[in-house]
Amino acid sequence: MNFQLSEEHLMIQKAARDFAVHELLPGVIARDEQQKFPAEQVKQLGELGFLGMMVSPTYGGAGLDTISYVLAMEEISKIDASTSVCMSVNNSLVCWGLETFGTEEQKQKYLVPLAKGEVIGAFLLSEPEAGSDATSQRTTAEDKGDHYLLNGTKNWITNGNSAGTYLVIAHTHPEKGSKGINAFIVEKSWPGVTVGAKENKLGIRGSDTHSIMFQDVKVPKENRIGEDGFGFKFAMKTLAGGRIGIASQALGIASGAYELALKYSRERKAFGKEISQHQAIQFKLADMATQIEAARLLCLKAAWEKDNHLDYTLSSSMAKVFASETAMWVTTEAVQVHGGYGYVKEYHVERLMRDAKITQIYEGTSEVQRIVISRAILG
Ligand code: CAA
Repeated sequence: MNFQLSEEHLMIQKAARDFAVHELLPGVIARDEQQKFPAEQVKQLGELGFLGMMVSPTYGGAGLDTISYVLAMEEISKIDASTSVCMSVNNSLVCWGLETFGTEEQKQKYLVPLAKGEVIGAFLLSEPEAGSDATSQRTTAEDKGDHYLLNGTKNWITNGNSAGTYLVIAHTHPEKGSKGINAFIVEKSWPGVTVGAKENKLGIRGSDTHSIMFQDVKVPKENRIGEDGFGFKFAMKTLAGGRIGIASQALGIASGAYELALKYSRERKAFGKEISQHQAIQFKLADMATQIEAARLLCLKAAWEKDNHLDYTLSSSMAKVFASETAMWVTTEAVQVHGGYGYVKEYHVERLMRDAKITQIYEGTSEVQRIVISRAILG
């Protein structure tokens, strides 16, 4: 077993860190306050190959492994989780789903621009009344011979307005439960697609979260992904990889807050010495560092399993539940280390604390991860 990163991995990590520090940090507070989508920064990420990291170069991607993706996600998320969620959805839900299960025609038409970052993707599963219970979809795709007719509403869609390509999960045969669900590639510009207002969120406020409505949208038959009825498995398999992305995002939020707390503890003096010299702070920093290292190892293990074609359903859920709970705890402690300064925007940790919360909710709540884990343990 080798815990050392390769030269290539270290280069990718550094490239992501440099990008985050130079391109994301300068405007991150303003984007959070104004709920501004980082359009220019996302374009740059695409040009650098960070939006199709694991896609084969044949389809316009960077051809990297999942370990590289975890490292890049951590670095970007240390500074700007609103940008990293866009990156995560595009890489692991949209590009991976299309490359793994799409037809050659679908890959040429849709994957290539997504992998190059010329078009952004979104994954449309959640509904007003179907979040964790993904089988209870109300959106329908009625089979009309040469096309499907799509009707319904999707909620909480990351990249909802900025995306050009949607992967939509819908019921074709509601009476068949999870076996009656299909996944479709839908273009945002098609007649009958409406983007709702942007959600005003607690955290990741720069990210582009919208409801999307479909009214009699004609989806060509060739835009269905996989065999008839494959949609639920498509969603579950895709989300297993997506959870590695969100676990890495949570890891990055935690390690970003920890690095700020560490730095502040060496600068701030109280009772005649730096606060890092007080055991109360030392123990907090020790616990933060330990939790973060454990979360990092879980993320890398899940990534390694994926790269080695092993079943990573269990490890990705373990990584996600642990890293997201670590993010919530570490960011709260980082605010505490900063005292009053932690509660104001200039010091960044209050934003990281707000951003951390969503990692316990999206791509399967902490409760859903525990369902997946306990099913794997109990059979
Ligand atoms: N891989 C392959 N197949 C899987 C699978 C997996 N990981 N998980 C389930 N399946 C299969 C099952 O084997 C079963 O197949 P058979 O009928 O052939 O046996 C079928 O799918 C149905 O499975 P379940 O009976 O286990 O399904 P369930 O209804 O009990 O649901 C659940 C289980 C784990 C709770 C699931 O509904 C789930 O993961 N929910 C959370 C959904 C979610 O993550 N939503 C996030 C939205 S996307 C998002 O947030 C993106 C964003 O914007 C950031």
